Formats: sequence, C-alpha cells, structure tokens
Amino acid sequence: MISTFDKILKIHRPRPRHPVIDQISKRWSPRLYSDKTIPGNDIDTIFEAARWTPSGHNRQPWYFYLAKKNTGAYQKLFSTLDPYNQSWSKTAPVLILACAIISDQDGDNPYAFYDLGASVISLILQAQELGYFSRQMALFDKQKVRALLRLRDDIVPYIIVAMGKIGNYDTAPKQIIDYELNPRPRKTDLFKEMKTL
Ligand SMILES: Cc1cc2nc3c(=O)[nH]c(=O)nc-3n(C[C@H](O)[C@H](O)[C@H](O)COP(=O)(O)O)c2cc1C
Repeated sequence: MISTFDKILKIHRPRPRHPVIDQISKRWSPRLYSDKTIPGNDIDTIFEAARWTPSGHNRQPWYFYLAKKNTGAYQKLFSTLDPYNQSWSKTAPVLILACAIISDQDGDNPYAFYDLGASVISLILQAQELGYFSRQMALFDKQKVRALLRLRDDIVPYIIVAMGKIGNYDTAPKQIIDYELNPRPRKTDLFKEMKTL
C-alpha cells in the first residue's frame, strides 16, 4: 500500500520536462518539519550561499535574523506568524527572517526586493543541497517584528523562512496532510523566443 508520504511526494516532487540541477528537481515547500536541529557548519554554509548572490551595483541589500527553536527569540518571531503559518511551522528547527535594506549610503535602492528574493532562493537551494527543506512565509505581523527587533526605517522585514529536515507525514496531523494533498501546478507557457519584434 502506498504510504501518505509517498502520496504527498508524488504530488509535490517536481517532474521537470527537461533536465535541471538536483536542487531544483528535489525542492518543494513542505508544511511538516522534523525538530532535528541544523548544525552550525550547515547554517554557515547556507548563509555563505546567500552572501554570493548577485545584486544591483553589488549593494547586497539583504540582512537575515536566525532564530533557533527553544529560544526566546524563536518564540517571539513565531508569535508574529499568522495562525495558519503557526499551525504547520511549529516544529521547524529554525526560522530565518529575511529583511530588505531599501536605502543605503548611495540612496534609495529600487532593486532591494529583487535582490533579497535572489538571496533567499540562493540560501534555500544551498539548504536543499544539504538535505534541508524550506517554506517561505509572507503572512506575519511586520509591525510587530519591526518593534521586537527595533528595526530602522530603511530595513524592511519581508519573509520568514521555516527550514529543517522534512517531517514524517505518516504520523502527521490530518489538517497538514490535507494541505499537502493539494496539487502543485506549474504553468507551462512561460517564455517565447523573439524572432522578430
Ligand atoms: C513571497 C512568498 C510568500 C509566501 N507566503 C507563504 C505563507 O505565508 N504561507 C505558506 O504556507 N506558504 C507561503 N509561501 C509558499 C508558497 O505558497 C509556495 O512556494 C508555492 O505554493 C509553490 O510551492 P513550492 O514552493 O512547493 O514550489 C510563500 C512563497 C513566497 C515565494
């Protein structure tokens, strides 16, 4: 008999139409994490990947806050998530808050969010290579995070990433399994070669 996990994997594991790198063909965003910690050397590698992300004028307009489970910082960051995100992310061993630096000594940076997204995907794909899955969350109370961390106006808290080893779906709560049984569609028409304009 096919296990719940296999059923979910069948729905979520990418089925690329053309060969792509492993980190892309394995990546998807689970809503179930094992509480196994991520060792410090892996954390360092994951942020190193973000560090080498390309950015407009090399301004590197990103800053990350890492919170490990069972710390006061984690509890506080977790408390800013909306109830749906709290319902599935509560076992993730780390939460990463990704912030955009929207102005610096060179003035306002119109590319800050573009570059922040690139740095987050670099970090996620590096984590994937190390066997950790991630799910990004935009639904959190940004004002509360701003106040908790006393962020300056030029720093915008933008995404919280839940990361860790994937959990055991065979013993997962029904609600989470129901979420994951939703298909993961991809559009097929995303580029056109321009022969003439
Ligand atoms: C900007 C952004 C915001 C997101 N916010 C949430 C969120 O608040 N809660 C959630 O469960 N997933 C969130 N996601 C995850 C997406 O729903 C998920 O990436 C998408 O459904 C595609 O699935 P995949 O990552 O498995 O390919 C977010 C993803 C992105 C990129």
